[in-house]
Amino acid sequence: MRILGELIDNNRRWAQNMVTLDAGYFARLADHQKPEFLWIGCSDSRVPANQIVGLDPGEVFVHRNIANVVVHSDFNCLSVLEFATEVLKVKHVIVCGHYGCSGVRAAGENHHLGLIDNWLRHIRDVRHTHNAILSRIADESARADRLCELNVIEQVRNVCHTTVVQEAWGRGQELSVHGWIYSVRDGLIKDLDVTTTNQAEIDEAYRVVTGNDS
Ligand code: CO
Repeated sequence: MRILGELIDNNRRWAQNMVTLDAGYFARLADHQKPEFLWIGCSDSRVPANQIVGLDPGEVFVHRNIANVVVHSDFNCLSVLEFATEVLKVKHVIVCGHYGCSGVRAAGENHHLGLIDNWLRHIRDVRHTHNAILSRIADESARADRLCELNVIEQVRNVCHTTVVQEAWGRGQELSVHGWIYSVRDGLIKDLDVTTTNQAEIDEAYRVVTGNDS
C-alpha cells in the first residue's frame, strides 16, 4: 500500500511541469549548486524559505530549526555555515525570524515543556539580556513581537562571532550577515537593519585572530 500517495503524485506532476517549462532544468541542477544565500530560519511550516523570497531550487542553501537559533556548540548549524561559506561561497547569510514564533513565545513564558526547554534556554538568555527593553512594553503581544526581533538580532551576532565567518572575512571573502523578520499575518519581510560585513563591526571581545591575519 502506498502511503502519502497524494504527495508522490504531486511530485510527479511538479517534476513534469518543470521539464515542460524548461527541458534542461534538472540536468543543470544535477550538475552543481551555486546559491548566493544561506538562510537560517525557523522550522515553522508557515515560513518556507524559497517561496517567500521567490527563489527557485538551487538558489538558497537552507538551515532551519526551532526559533532560528545559532548556538556555538551546535555542529549541525556550524557545519551548514562552514559548507555554505567555504565550499559554496555564499555572499549573504540571512537569519530570518518571524512574528508569532511559538518557540520564542514559549521562551517568554515560564512553563515547563520538556526537552525543548533546553533549546529555548538560548532565547530565555536573549529575554534576560534585554529585560530592561522588554519590561517597558506593556502589551503582551507587542512584547512577544519585540522578543522575536531581538532574538534575530542576537542570532546575527552569534553568526558573526563564529570562527567560520571570521575566517571568511580574514581571507578577504565578501560575506554579509543580515537579520530579517517575517510576518505570518501579511507575508511581508522586514529588514532589521543589523547587516554586518566585516570583523571591525563586531564587538572587540568576540573578535578572533584568524590564521589569515598578519
Ligand atoms: Co518559529
